[in-house]
Amino acid sequence: MPLVNTKEMFKKAYEGGYAIGAFNVNNMEIVQGITEAAKEVNAPLILQVSAGARKYANHTYLMKLIEAALIETDLPIAVHLDHGDSFELCKSCIDGGFTSVMIDGSHLPFEENIALTKKVVDYAHERGVTVEGELGRLAGVEDDVNVSAEDAQYTKPDEVEEFVSRTGVDSLAIAIGTSHGAFKFKGEPRLRFDILEEVGRRLPGFPIVLHGASSVIPEYVEMINKFGGNMPGAQGVPEEMLRKAASMAVCKINIDSDLRLAMTAAIRKVFAETPAEFDPRKYLGPGRAEIKKLVKNKLINVLGCAGKA
Ligand code: G3H
Ligand code: 13P
Ligand code: ZN
Repeated sequence: MPLVNTKEMFKKAYEGGYAIGAFNVNNMEIVQGITEAAKEVNAPLILQVSAGARKYANHTYLMKLIEAALIETDLPIAVHLDHGDSFELCKSCIDGGFTSVMIDGSHLPFEENIALTKKVVDYAHERGVTVEGELGRLAGVEDDVNVSAEDAQYTKPDEVEEFVSRTGVDSLAIAIGTSHGAFKFKGEPRLRFDILEEVGRRLPGFPIVLHGASSVIPEYVEMINKFGGNMPGAQGVPEEMLRKAASMAVCKINIDSDLRLAMTAAIRKVFAETPAEFDPRKYLGPGRAEIKKLVKNKLINVLGCAGKA
C-alpha cells in the first residue's frame, strides 16, 4: 500500500470516536518499534517528522526508513511534517514525498497565520497533501519552538470557523492546556474540555489535533530516576483525558515524549545493570522493544484505533 494522506483516516476516526496516533520518528529503532506495534494490532498510523528530526537524521534516511516500514507492515501510514514553521520547509517536505504537513503559524497574528496557512494549503492540495493548522499557543520547548507558560494561550473558539473556512485546512491543532515535553502540569492536570466542546460544536465533523499529549508514564520516569536519571516532577496528560478527547472531535493525538522516556528508561537499565556492555544492539534493541510495548498499549487502550487499519 502506498503512503496515504490523513483525509480518510480522520473521517473514519471522527465517525468512530477514536483517534489516530501521531508518533515522532528520529531513527530506525523508533520507526521499527512504532510500526511493529501497529502491525500487530492492525492500526493506521501517522509518523511525524519535526524540523529537528530532519536535521538529525536527514530527510532521505527518514523517508527510506518509513518506506521500509510500509513494505513490512502494509498499513495505511501518513508521513507528516510536525510544526512546520515556513512555507519553504513545508514545500520541501511536500516535494520530498510527505503526504501531510503542519504549518504552525500559531505565534503569528491571526491575519498572518491565515495568509501563511492558506499559501501552504494551496500548494499542498494541488499535490494531494493534507494540511494541519494551529490556533492558540501551547507552552513548552522543542528544537525550534519555545513558548513560555506566560505566552501560552488557549484557542479562542470564536476564531476557528473563520480560520478553517479562509485557509481550507484539513485539521486544526488547538490549545486546551496540554504542553510539549515531560513537565506539563505543576499540580492537578487540567484540560479545558469546554473549549474542545465549543470548537467541536462550531466545526461539526472537522478533525481536531491534540499536541503535547504524552502521558509521561510514571513507570518510565521512576525507571529513569532509579537508574541514574534525574527527572523530578515529570507529569503528563492522564490516559482517561486522552480517551475522552478521542471520543470527542480529536482525531490526531501527538506523542513524542513518551517514546523518548521509554527508550531512555530501557537504555539506562541496560547501562546500569550491565556496565560492561558496549554493543549498541544490546541497548538499542531493548529501547526499541520498550517503544513497541508502549505504542501497542496506546493504540489499544488509549487511542482506540487498534483494528481500524
Ligand atoms: O512537538 C515537538 C516534538 O516533540 C518534536 O520535538 O523538535 O525536539 O524534534 P523536536
Ligand atoms: P509530547 O511532548 O507531549 O509528546 O508532544 C509531542 C507533540 O506535540 C509533537 O508535535
Ligand atoms: Zn506539537
